[in-house]
Amino acid sequence: MSKNSALLLAGGSGTRMAAATGGGNKVLLDLGGEPVLCHSLRTLLGSRCFDRVVLVHRDEDRARLEERLDSGGLAGSVDWVVGGKERFDSVHAGLEFLSKVGAPKNVLIHDSARPFVTTAMIEESLAKAAEFGASTVAVPLSDTLKREDGGFLVETLPRKHLYRIQTPQAFDFQLLFAAHKRFRNAPDPMVTDDCMLLEKEGRGIAIVSGCESNIKITTPFDLKLAQAILEERRNAAGEEF
Ligand code: C5P
Repeated sequence: MSKNSALLLAGGSGTRMAAATGGGNKVLLDLGGEPVLCHSLRTLLGSRCFDRVVLVHRDEDRARLEERLDSGGLAGSVDWVVGGKERFDSVHAGLEFLSKVGAPKNVLIHDSARPFVTTAMIEESLAKAAEFGASTVAVPLSDTLKREDGGFLVETLPRKHLYRIQTPQAFDFQLLFAAHKRFRNAPDPMVTDDCMLLEKEGRGIAIVSGCESNIKITTPFDLKLAQAILEERRNAAGEEF
């Protein structure tokens, strides 16, 4: 049995990026000279934590993805799987593929729209999935939360125990795959992410410390922010030499 596999999700389109992509895939947009998704792919591959990295993509993006990965020397390093309509369906397609080619002990799932995942996050996610069955990268909430009623804010909610969820998320493969199959047989519109499937079954998800720079590129503003983060990182790396 292989130990760890990764699913890198690139099967969406990014409707809030339509102005910049013309309906294309936002993770193919340029970030510092290569597509957004290449940044997290390099980190996954460079971590040396995975026997297999599966790129879950849209059928219509395959040729362009292959060409861009090829020019970055990355095309031969991934398995290709066509995703589905929703993110959840794309995860399921990736899990089905892994179960056919040889189920790993743990699977790590990452949104390719988050280019700044770190090796430390990957290692801690896998370690916690191995120990507790499931983990997610998350950051404590810093904003004040208020409840609205009738157009007015009427109550301040305690935020002490609240987190914003990022990716990667990592799981014991069999645990997640079984939960996915149960969900396919009895869908629940309230369930919007993989961790929720396990929470519903009473399992706690271990927390891995995320960071503010592990942003998800959703809007054109996020892409500008990502360019600034990348520039700062490149400058910092340059200063070390
Ligand atoms: O659209 P959003 O940014 O929330 O998508 C999060 C991640 O899930 C992205 O990396 C996107 O490519 C992926 N995704 C997918 N299949 C879908 C929808 C989204 O792989 N059907």
